[in-house]
Amino acid sequence: MNITVLGRGNVGGGLADLWRKAGHEVTALGSDGGDASDADVVVVAVPSSAIADALGKVRGVQGKVAIDATNALGGSGEEHESLAHQVKSIVGGPTAKSFNINFARIYDQIPAQRSRPSNLYAAEDDAREVAERLIRDAGYDPVYVGGLDQAPLLEDHIQLVFAINQAGLGPFFYRIAKPGEL
Ligand SMILES: NC(=O)c1ccc[n+]([C@@H]2O[C@H](COP(=O)([O-])OP(=O)(O)OC[C@H]3O[C@@H](n4cnc5c(N)ncnc54)[C@H](OP(=O)(O)O)[C@@H]3O)[C@@H](O)[C@H]2O)c1
Repeated sequence: MNITVLGRGNVGGGLADLWRKAGHEVTALGSDGGDASDADVVVVAVPSSAIADALGKVRGVQGKVAIDATNALGGSGEEHESLAHQVKSIVGGPTAKSFNINFARIYDQIPAQRSRPSNLYAAEDDAREVAERLIRDAGYDPVYVGGLDQAPLLEDHIQLVFAINQAGLGPFFYRIAKPGEL
């Protein structure tokens, strides 16, 4: 696939590396913006406060499938139900929320795990196939939590993830599996 990632930091740069290794064509953009006209999917991995600015500097995003990976550490903005809804309001295509509760610092350790770590995602129907493929190609097992209406739940979940992290575990993987598949 042809993937444009907004953000080339821990998440954007890290996912770009993983997806390139899986054979995708990836363009990772920073503060200078760029062009996403050829992209099959646009992935948003910038600070939540920069979503509108970052998308405003990238040409050709309109109507694309979008995956929002952002977190709002102080809660999401007031205008939108969630950050993913904010992305949807700008891009306008089928939208998913994913990668926001998976630690970028340990992307390089994914292949060394006993079983594939999980990655919780919410998505509109027309974004599910792309989201699942990119989650798998990054090395995770996708776990569907429902439509985009569940994005606020995924964004709130970061609080629990940080609490576990700071209670002593540090960056961690998680796995959600059916009995017999653990
Ligand atoms: N770190 C994690 O483990 C993690 C996990 C899940 C989700 N998240 C979320 O993912 C997002 C990115 O986190 P990160 O750790 O990857 O951050 P980061 O390493 O600081 O990278 C941020 C990227 O966003 C770009 N950026 C900042 N302001 C911008 C603007 N106004 N317009 C365009 N691009 C802009 C930066 O561009 P330049 O390269 O030009 O500076 C940089 O490439 C955040 O919403 C974060 O909450 C983080």
